[in-house]
Amino acid sequence: MSRLKIGVLASGRGSNLQALLDACAGGNIPAEVAVVLSDISDAYALQRARQSQVPALHVDPAAWPGREQYEQELVRLLQAHGVELVCLAGYMRLVGRVMLQAFPGRIMNIHPSLLPAFPGLHAQKQALDYGVRFTGCTVHFVDEGMDSGPIILQAVVPVLDGDDEASLAARILEQEHQIYPRAVDLFARGRLLLKGRRVCILE
Ligand code: GRF
Repeated sequence: MSRLKIGVLASGRGSNLQALLDACAGGNIPAEVAVVLSDISDAYALQRARQSQVPALHVDPAAWPGREQYEQELVRLLQAHGVELVCLAGYMRLVGRVMLQAFPGRIMNIHPSLLPAFPGLHAQKQALDYGVRFTGCTVHFVDEGMDSGPIILQAVVPVLDGDDEASLAARILEQEHQIYPRAVDLFARGRLLLKGRRVCILE
């Protein structure tokens, strides 16, 4: 099976990127990370990519007059590396029209809550403050909204009485590292079928 080329966009520490790199390197999923792009020059994600001999580039949004031009540069770089699937992994910007049109149904994101609950920033704190007994994480396709696209996979994580934001985030993160490679694997094998808002997983 030919290997699907992934482009990863990350703004921070890149632990989900690492999970994808490891899954690809281990031969577990028929995919490879072809390029990593970051809007933050010293994002640790860029170092992780370089340690795995993956091209890693900082693209400075401030160097472009607006989001459209910045995204055109992202698209240019992703296409130059043959990217077929874009994975957002802690990428702290909303994706706009230019990226969505260049990669229709081909952009995924991971979010640390059971969407549609607690979209946006500080999802783990939102869950604690609300008092839910269960939260988790979600891999979804990206649309023009904030964490609002069709859901691919979710994992449930219990909220424990002694939890603070850090302990809950750490337990959720373990699950993120499981479901993100699994979602990419399903995509790479052509097993995800989008029907309206619903994502069917083919046998
Ligand atoms: C993760 O919690 C992810 O769900 C959210 O941002 C965080 C990124 O962490 N979108 P990392 O950079 O992958 O370690």
